[in-house]
Amino acid sequence: MSKEIKTIGVLTSGGDAPGMNAAIRAVVRKAISNGVKVKGIKKGYLGLLNEEIVDMERKSVSDIIQTGGTILGTARCLEFKEPEVQARGAEICRKHGIDGLVVIGGDGSYRGAQALARNGINTVGIPGTIDLDIACTEYTIGFDTAINTAMEAIDKVRDTSSSHERCSIIEVMGRDAGYIALWTGVANGAEDILLPEKYDYNEQAIINNIIENRKRGKTHHIIINAEGIGHSTSMAKRIEAATGIETRATILGYLQRGGHPTCKDRFYASIMGAYAADILCQGKSNRVVAYTKGEFVDFDIEEALCMKKNINEYQYEIGKKLSQ
Ligand code: ADP
Ligand code: F6P
Repeated sequence: MSKEIKTIGVLTSGGDAPGMNAAIRAVVRKAISNGVKVKGIKKGYLGLLNEEIVDMERKSVSDIIQTGGTILGTARCLEFKEPEVQARGAEICRKHGIDGLVVIGGDGSYRGAQALARNGINTVGIPGTIDLDIACTEYTIGFDTAINTAMEAIDKVRDTSSSHERCSIIEVMGRDAGYIALWTGVANGAEDILLPEKYDYNEQAIINNIIENRKRGKTHHIIINAEGIGHSTSMAKRIEAATGIETRATILGYLQRGGHPTCKDRFYASIMGAYAADILCQGKSNRVVAYTKGEFVDFDIEEALCMKKNINEYQYEIGKKLSQ
């Protein structure tokens, strides 16, 4: 028999992502409409350990669906990897009457949720990261907003790049995952797309590509470089020296993590938030919500963490072909 859920908590953890507020709003309102109380935990697992816990009402989440960031705040809390700290986190949940917890974050945050589940607190994860690097789901909260923000910025760099007949290296976020680079690379018609998963550090191939394109009459050359490869400024200097073509680097940075969420991020985050509240209220635990093959579904956390996701080879090859 699963235990009766009277109060659930919600927290955001890891890097923030536009749409997290829409998810928090949905968790709070759906749980309340299911007759369950909700508490907000500030600053992820750090706030849990510091007992930064507040009651949440329907009105606590008014006027936030359109805002970036997370009203609960987020933090990294490395000590939560320690088993005794995780046990203390579960004790704190019990002290505050929290029987179940929604964790909005990435793989690392799911591991924290898994640990709390082992310690008797029902948990459900929701994928929140601009990086799209969670294997069990085709959608993560914030990716759509981030790629649209980056795409618009890259269009602007392209304008000035063409006017000055320059080469531009534009660095987008993605420490380990190249999805933002791949999507913007294709959407912005970039001449080169460098992904952490694929890059072979053959800079001469890029230089040859720039020279060939210039011979064919292209006035600009856009290189999308993922953060995980980095070194865009020094790369620009080397390319300029080798080609004689003025080359500039632009690092888009944290602006990709902020801003009003797109309609897609608001919609998906809302459905996922409501779904998480529902399955938690039904007594499920150690689950993550995902979107796959056109459906919102849930997986066991362990199963989800064991899944692997790779850059789609066909999409990557197409990205290279279309800009030739
Ligand atoms: P993300 O959730 O986006 O992958 P992180 O990897 O930074 O981001 O993880 C966010 C937080 O989740 C960490 O600061 C820590 O509090 C918690 N966490 C990460 N890994 C673990 C782990 N192995 N066990 C328990 N908690 C973890
Ligand atoms: O949110 C994901 C991400 O933007 C990664 O692409 C990046 O490597 C990381 O977060 C950087 O975040 P922070 O500087 O907050 O650790």
